[in-house]
Amino acid sequence: MFDLIANDLRLKGYSVQKHALPPALIEELLHTFKSIPPEGLKQAGIGRACDLQANSEIRRDEIAWIESADSGAAGQWLQFSAQLQHHLNRALMLGLFSFESHFAHYAPGAFYKTHVDAFKGQANRVLSVVLYLNLEWSANDGGEMVLYSDQDPQCVLETIQPLGGTLAVFLSEDFPHEVLPTRRDRYSIAGWYRVNTSSTLRVDPPA
Ligand code: OGA
Ligand code: MN
Repeated sequence: MFDLIANDLRLKGYSVQKHALPPALIEELLHTFKSIPPEGLKQAGIGRACDLQANSEIRRDEIAWIESADSGAAGQWLQFSAQLQHHLNRALMLGLFSFESHFAHYAPGAFYKTHVDAFKGQANRVLSVVLYLNLEWSANDGGEMVLYSDQDPQCVLETIQPLGGTLAVFLSEDFPHEVLPTRRDRYSIAGWYRVNTSSTLRVDPPA
């Protein structure tokens, strides 16, 4: 599967893989996330460091960061993401350096309007991944992720059902995307690989 992802990235800049991880692990990840007490979740924000703000007009999900020390299912997810990183670095020489990811819950009615995960030129987020955790999803449930063309933002490249086990991978700078309003609780993990932007003036430690 890592080869399929690398080929897709080379050809079109994104890849969608169903059944990317075993159902038992998806179920465990969902359970791990649902076991986090409410005070462990926070309203997701937008923007960068100093102007980080929660803006409910743009996004309405709540998140919990996965820490590098996490064990169990979250630890297995981190292992998977490290293997993918290793493979893509070898196949595509992307120079992926570190990885950060969080669980995200969209309650009924929640959405995330069209955005890009990194801005051209200043990007150190180079590759985005999203893993879906809902064990069931039907066409009426909404909550799809829509990927748009960078050249023509009207042009829909892909509409992705957030069904458990599906993994979406895309170049962070190149694809505006959104989460359509969901009609049921929607669970996922969103993650980003960064390149190392260290310089003599600035140190960019691994996440
Ligand atoms: C994000 C994001 C997409 C999704 O968190 O930046 O775009 O389908 N998530 O959850
Ligand atoms: Mn995004």
